[in-house]
Formats: sequence, structure tokens, C-alpha cells
Amino acid sequence: MASIDIANIKKSYGTHPVLHDVDLKISDGEFVVLVGPSGCGKSTLLRMIAGLESVTGGEIRIAGRRVNDLAPKDRDIAMVFQSYALYPHMSVAKNMSYSLRLRKTAKDRIATVVAGAAAKLGLDPLLERRPRALSGGQRQRVAMGRAIVRQPKAFLFDEPLSNLDARLREQMRAEIKKLHKDLGATSIYVTHDQIEAMTLADRIVAMNGGVVQQVGSPLDLYDRPANLFVAGFIGSPGMNFFEGNYQAGEVQRFEMEDGNSIPLDAPPLSNNARVTLGIRPEHVVLAGHGPETLLATVDLVEPTGFGIILHLSLGGASFKAFTNDRSFLTASGTIPVRFPAHYLHFFDAEGRRV
Ligand SMILES: Nc1ncnc2c1ncn2[C@@H]1O[C@H](COP(=O)(O)OP(=O)(O)OP(=O)(O)O)[C@@H](O)[C@H]1O
Ligand SMILES: [Mg+2]
Repeated sequence: MASIDIANIKKSYGTHPVLHDVDLKISDGEFVVLVGPSGCGKSTLLRMIAGLESVTGGEIRIAGRRVNDLAPKDRDIAMVFQSYALYPHMSVAKNMSYSLRLRKTAKDRIATVVAGAAAKLGLDPLLERRPRALSGGQRQRVAMGRAIVRQPKAFLFDEPLSNLDARLREQMRAEIKKLHKDLGATSIYVTHDQIEAMTLADRIVAMNGGVVQQVGSPLDLYDRPANLFVAGFIGSPGMNFFEGNYQAGEVQRFEMEDGNSIPLDAPPLSNNARVTLGIRPEHVVLAGHGPETLLATVDLVEPTGFGIILHLSLGGASFKAFTNDRSFLTASGTIPVRFPAHYLHFFDAEGRRV
């Protein structure tokens, strides 16, 4: 096992920069998830750690050793990809032991390691099968087994579950988490599924446009997003945003563009500052009276079984509320809503949290 230190890493393809000064210290045994939209540079960063892409600038250290110019095979890292590319003519056992046989590991040692990994992954009954006789989830498990038997310093996962259907993904997600508890190996996991990120990570690294936006525990990012990008990316349905102005004065208020306004506890803003107010759908209170209450129009009701997503609007601004109260299944016309002060997020004109 090993720590991984990434210092001021830059990557350009020709003159086109795709990673800008990425800094990240990953502790021994930590599970770190990289999330971000398509094209933000997640795979590129992972492939640079694995040694499959050259480094344009900065330094990568694995277990304290600089690896910038080290061949992939000398980095002692195992990578699990979205496409698992098993050898079709080899049995599951042979697929799993391939790297050990290449290294001329002793036969009895191979047998022990493969049996251990197969037991962990529930692959014992399948060891003699060929990959074509396996389901997608089973194949993904073999790919994982192939990585485990090498007992690498660290695991790198690039969207390993995105070829699987939703149910299987849920199941494999839990298995990966259990496996990590078991092995305690340093892991970096790339996904654009934010539920995967939230459930698996010790820490999440949110990226956009080749720039790290925030690093923190899943709940740090959920409860205190550093900027509008993270606020909008983490959470489903996503955070609601309202554009407006902060008004200081006897009663401090947030004035929305359509004239609605709500009283506030003092955020550190100057009078008349342009701000974006954010509130998560599950924090919108669907009741109330008095000056804090607004009347929202019900545009659409979406029952999900688990709860109800209400599509609402205030003047021109659309937003969503989430509730478990089934009496809202028949909501229509206008309903009172409140935005409790302690659930509000504020972002300045540059999109930074205030
Ligand atoms: N070999 C290459 N040559 C030129 N540009 C590249 C190359 N590989 C990747 N890129 C560009 O680098 C950027 C980052 O790509 P990368 O594959 O790291 O994104 P990603 O975050 O993994 O996206 P996805 O979620 O779609 O897998 C993209 O704009 C991509 O087009
Ligand atoms: Mg990718």
C-alpha cells in the first residue's frame, strides 16, 4: 500500500491544456473519488498516475518515490477500466493469474492468491468458465480479481461500473466498498455518477475544465459546496438557484429578480451585492405563514415512489422541492413555501461561496 502525492500536475495535448496545476495528497489506504463532467480530465489524470500518459509539468510520487519517468509496469499499480478486456480464450482462473504467470510466480503461490481473490469476489464456482459464458457483472468481477491478485500498491478505477445496468451497479458498488474495507488499499476511482462518488469516497475531488474545484468528504461537498459548480453537480435532483440582490437595512432581504423577497440572517455581503441563492429541494419547506412565506405555483408533480418531486415556480424562476408527504400528489394552483435561513447557500458574482 502507498500514499500518492500529486504536485502541480499539468497536462497539455499539443498546445491544448487539459489539466491545470492539480494538487492532491492521497493517504495510504484512502479511497478517493474523482468526479466531474465528461471531458474534465479525470481519465487523463488517472492515466498519468498509472504511467499511461506523459506528464507535461509537476510531479507524481507513489510511496514517496518520484514516478514521472517510471514505466507503468514498474509503478506497482493496478488499473480497472470500464471495458474489462478479458482474454476470451482463457478461463476465469487463467485470466486472473495471467500477470502472476508472466512474473513467473510459483504455482502454489498463484493457486493460493487466485483462490483468495475468487472467494472475496464470489467467483469460486466460475473459475473454469470462459469470459463469454459470464454475465457483465461477473466479467467486471474477474477484472477486479485480476487487479487484486497482483497485490498492487494502489488501485485505479476508471468508471468500472458504467457498462452495467442500474441494479448491478448498485450491487457492485457495495461490493467494491466491502472489498476496500477488507484490503484497505489506496484507491482512486473515477466516475461521473455522483451517487457512486458520495457512497464510496473517503474524499471526493470535484473537477471541472481540468481544474480541481473542491476536495473534501462527501458531506463537506454536499453541505458546504465551495462554488456554484460543485453546488450544482453534487445532489440529485440538483440544488435550486435564484439570482438576485442582497439588501442590507433594518430587515435584511434577498430580492429575487421578479420582485419576490425573503428575509435573511446576515450573510457577509455588501449592500446591493449580486448574489445567487441556493437551496436543496429537500430543504424547501412546503408550508408556512408570515413574512417568510412565499406563494409558489405548482407546475408539475413527479411521484418517484421514494418521494415526490414538485416542480414549482416563483414569478419567472423555476425550482424543485422534494417531499415524502403523499398529500402533495394532488397539489395544484399555488402552495406556501419557505426557505429556512440555515439551509441557504450564497454565491458571489464569481460563483464562490460566501
Ligand atoms: N490523446 C489525446 N489527444 C488530444 N486530446 C485529448 C487526448 N486524450 C484526451 N484528450 C482531451 O482531454 C480532455 C480530457 O479528457 P479525459 O478523457 O481525461 O476526460 P474525462 O474527464 O475522463 O471524460 P469522460 O467522463 O468523458 O471519460 C478532453 O477534452 C479530451 O478531448
Ligand atoms: Mg474518462
